Amino acid sequence: MKPIVWAAILLDCYVVHAIAKYSGPHGTINTSSGAVRGHKAPMAPLVTAYLGIPYARPPVGPLRFAPPQHYHSSGHEIFGDSLGGKPKGIMLSVPGGGYVAGSSNSKTYDGARLADQGDVIVVSFNYRLNILGFPGAPGTQNLGLLDQRFAVEWVQRNIAKFGGDPLRITLAGESAGGGSVDYYSYAWADHPIVAGLISQSGTISLVQPLSKETAAENWFNTSRSLGCGGKRDETDQVMDCMRAKNVTAIMEAISQASIDSVLFTPFVDELFVFDDYAIRSAAGKFIRKPLLIGHNDFEASLFDMIQRLRNITLPPSFWDDFDNTRFFCPVASRAAVNVEYDLPTWRYRYFGDWPDMRLSETIYTGAYHGSDVNILFDTIPHESGIPASTRKEKAFGKYMRGAWAAFVSNPEHGLRDYGWPDYNYNTQSLVRLAYMNTTGLDVAFPEAYDGLCGATT
Ligand SMILES: *[C@@H]1O[C@H](CO)[C@@H](O)[C@H](O)[C@H]1NC(C)=O
Ligand SMILES: *[C@@H]1O[C@H](CO)[C@@H](O)[C@H](O)[C@H]1NC(C)=O
Ligand SMILES: *[C@@H]1O[C@H](CO)[C@@H](O)[C@H](O)[C@H]1NC(C)=O
Ligand SMILES: *[C@@H]1O[C@H](CO)[C@@H](O)[C@H](O)[C@H]1NC(C)=O
Ligand SMILES: *[C@@H]1O[C@H](CO)[C@@H](O)[C@H](O)[C@H]1NC(C)=O
Repeated sequence: MKPIVWAAILLDCYVVHAIAKYSGPHGTINTSSGAVRGHKAPMAPLVTAYLGIPYARPPVGPLRFAPPQHYHSSGHEIFGDSLGGKPKGIMLSVPGGGYVAGSSNSKTYDGARLADQGDVIVVSFNYRLNILGFPGAPGTQNLGLLDQRFAVEWVQRNIAKFGGDPLRITLAGESAGGGSVDYYSYAWADHPIVAGLISQSGTISLVQPLSKETAAENWFNTSRSLGCGGKRDETDQVMDCMRAKNVTAIMEAISQASIDSVLFTPFVDELFVFDDYAIRSAAGKFIRKPLLIGHNDFEASLFDMIQRLRNITLPPSFWDDFDNTRFFCPVASRAAVNVEYDLPTWRYRYFGDWPDMRLSETIYTGAYHGSDVNILFDTIPHESGIPASTRKEKAFGKYMRGAWAAFVSNPEHGLRDYGWPDYNYNTQSLVRLAYMNTTGLDVAFPEAYDGLCGATT
């Protein structure tokens, strides 16, 4: 990643995009962050998009590496409308990107069509990434995860004015977004706010949390290379110096330390990230709410392709192991944790393999990591060279959006009403999405896929 990308993310930080279907003028809404004006969403004309609403003060200057602060609107109070009608469920979507990339501005996550077809409100937001969100400095916290909580609180406070029901917020995400949902489910066990959780292709095990020690080492290595001192120096002075550096310089220092820029991801801070998840699971110390969780059939093929572009070819056994340890088995056991406490739980495995989503014409990539996201949001790009969506694919997309919207509209019963069986390891209740390109319900026994995961009941 080039440093410029990170600079852009910093500037964008702390905004919410709220997208709702609403018949009436695209009015102004009075929020806790001031008045916001909607406009017609380009992708779905019946939908109004309210973009770029600040949900916290910009994390710059002394607020860099600091917990988020409430945003106070400046200027005049403006009288705003509230959107009427029957309150809707909210899908609050956490962008993915390995905790180092991703933005709610990505076209992939544009919620307009999902809001239109599913009649739900889709909200997405940015949170701090990489060293800005997960600095690892002694005494700091997982700020990126705290930002996410801030966004949840903002939605709870404001969404009624957009026609949403604050009692039906579903926190949803894919990849690191799904991992964030999983972290949230343990960090906020006693005060969840949300009514349901959707985790696609991401749990805490996607990127194992760093130990406090490793995180601090990464922080000090970076501070040292910027001339800000290291472990032996005054912690506060190191921090002051790091706050004075511009983001470009910081990102350059990181990329020199690691070609992948992945030194800064969630770390154990004992507040939002823990080192004893198995114990917490067994003790029921997580958000006991409905959960929709799953992953794709061949997550690893995306990562395999990336390695091949670097001329690195790893054997299939490596990728099987990668799939099992990062995706398949953690999803199976997270679903089992919910079932253990008799909570409504649905589990899926996505198989879609469509001509306009393929990564390669020569190598089979199947349902690779992230290939479900454009289908869910109905945002497949059709620029030159990309074939049109097939009839089966379009039908399946509608079915998938229907399922997600059913959950978001009614986390307890929506998917039951949609015909999905409650997940249980002992029954034929693993939903195979787009299995053999088909639309509609197809179920399998979990053990048909979980064989290599050990006990998951
Ligand atoms: C606008 O919203 C703020 C925060 O919710 C509230 O304090 C203020 O009274 C509202 N103003 C009007 C004119 O409704
Ligand atoms: C941090 O720096 C030390 C000393 O230069 C080095 O041994 C270590 O590998 C570095 N750690 C990381 C994560 O780069
Ligand atoms: C950032 O800091 C570096 C090193 O101090 C400096 O060379 C560069 O011009 C600065 N960039 C901006 C945009 O201020
Ligand atoms: C991979 O190998 C090809 C053919 O040998 C070469 O042209 C290309 O530059 C290599 N790519 C990288 C990233 O090393
Ligand atoms: C799914 O559809 C695609 C495109 O029509 C086709 O290439 C593929 O073989 C199909 N897969 C299955 C399992 O039917």
